Amino acid sequence: MTSDIDILVLAEATGSFHGEEIEILKEVLESYRTKPDKDYSLIESRKEGRLAGFAIFGRTPMTRFAWDVYWIAVDPSFQRRGIGRELLDAVEKAVLADGDRAVLRVETSGTESYAGVRRFYDAAGYERAGTIRDFYAPGDDFCLYAKEVRR
Ligand SMILES: CC(C)(COP(=O)(O)OP(=O)(O)OC[C@H]1O[C@@H](n2cnc3c(N)ncnc32)[C@H](O)[C@@H]1OP(=O)(O)O)[C@@H](O)C(=O)NCCC(=O)NCCS
Repeated sequence: MTSDIDILVLAEATGSFHGEEIEILKEVLESYRTKPDKDYSLIESRKEGRLAGFAIFGRTPMTRFAWDVYWIAVDPSFQRRGIGRELLDAVEKAVLADGDRAVLRVETSGTESYAGVRRFYDAAGYERAGTIRDFYAPGDDFCLYAKEVRR
């Protein structure tokens, strides 16, 4: 099994997450290790004998079949090889184990450096469901994406 350190190192290596986000990821992993699949579920992708990417998702509280994809990250040396898409596909399959339909929600940044991430969600069939301007910081919008999946 992959250690939390490997996951944290990979997340840092992407350069997409700041210190506070890495601290939160650490807490999320602790919660996952204590009670797997309670609030958070983890899917890993291993290639060439090492961690290539991971996704963390969980049920959205107070909804009937909604889920949040909290984290998805692929090691930079493995990016653009279909691993992110494989991880999202695995998340979509996992949530359907619980029911015959599910709505997935993801959020990301509207800055230019996240244009590739937004294209990644577009390409995977996620719809842009909303924007909150200057949400994270001035000039850094909150972009909401959603996708409904059925068995
Ligand atoms: C977003 C991320 C998970 C995508 O993983 P990936 O394995 O590189 O993506 P895939 O190879 O599965 O890409 C599937 C498709 O998405 C689109 N896509 C992915 N990355 C893209 C980019 N940087 N620019 C443009 N399109 C992109 C393409 O259509 C791609 O298909 P193609 O390569 O055949 O053109 C990865 O870039 C990553 O870890 N980024 C840093 C962490 C992060 O920002 N996570 C999201 C937080 S909200």
